[in-house]
Amino acid sequence: MAERPRLVVASGNQGKLREYRDLLTGTGFDLVGFDTEVDEVGETYAENARLKAVAAAERSELPSMGDDSGLEVDVLGGFPGVRSARLASSPQARIAAVLARLEGRPRPWSARFVCVIALHTPDGETEMFEGECRGELVPEPRGAGGFGYDPIFLVPETGKTFGEMTAEEKARYSHRAVAVRRMLGSDGFSRLRESWSARRSR
Ligand code: IMP
Repeated sequence: MAERPRLVVASGNQGKLREYRDLLTGTGFDLVGFDTEVDEVGETYAENARLKAVAAAERSELPSMGDDSGLEVDVLGGFPGVRSARLASSPQARIAAVLARLEGRPRPWSARFVCVIALHTPDGETEMFEGECRGELVPEPRGAGGFGYDPIFLVPETGKTFGEMTAEEKARYSHRAVAVRRMLGSDGFSRLRESWSARRSR
């Protein structure tokens, strides 16, 4: 049987890995999750995504994707932003920390999710792809799907939080799905497919 091409996703977050597996179904690539445990010292999503992608590519010697993402609340000046994952020690505590800062503020609490993917290819190039999803936060968590801040992130036109959506529904709106679609249409991803086909026919 022909060997399938592999693509590393530099993340130990099971919620993210599940979403990437679904979003990249049909591309022909086998996804390999790899936690680089890189310190997210960058000031921007792009810097962190690049750090993760390059670290994973160096250690695995495979093409690698790094992803950095976060929640930004407009009335809090974009907080928690790049610090979304480090705000507190559990998803419930992170949700509580954001909601505590919103207490007494008039609704709607408009917000967005942002995702930046860095794709590091064997030719040494790194390309960046960004996606966003706009919505608003609700004061009580709703739904048990997804991960992270999903239960408080409402997509107004659907009347549902990400936590109340199936994986397929979330993929219609999510910041990660937008960034993936951009990556799949990019020159870097085409080069990756071509380099793998060339390798197989050698
Ligand atoms: P990092 O990209 O690993 O730094 O983590 C980003 C953090 O942002 C996650 O741990 C979540 O708390 C939050 N986040 C990013 N994307 C999502 C999402 O799709 N749903 C819910 N929370 C998210």
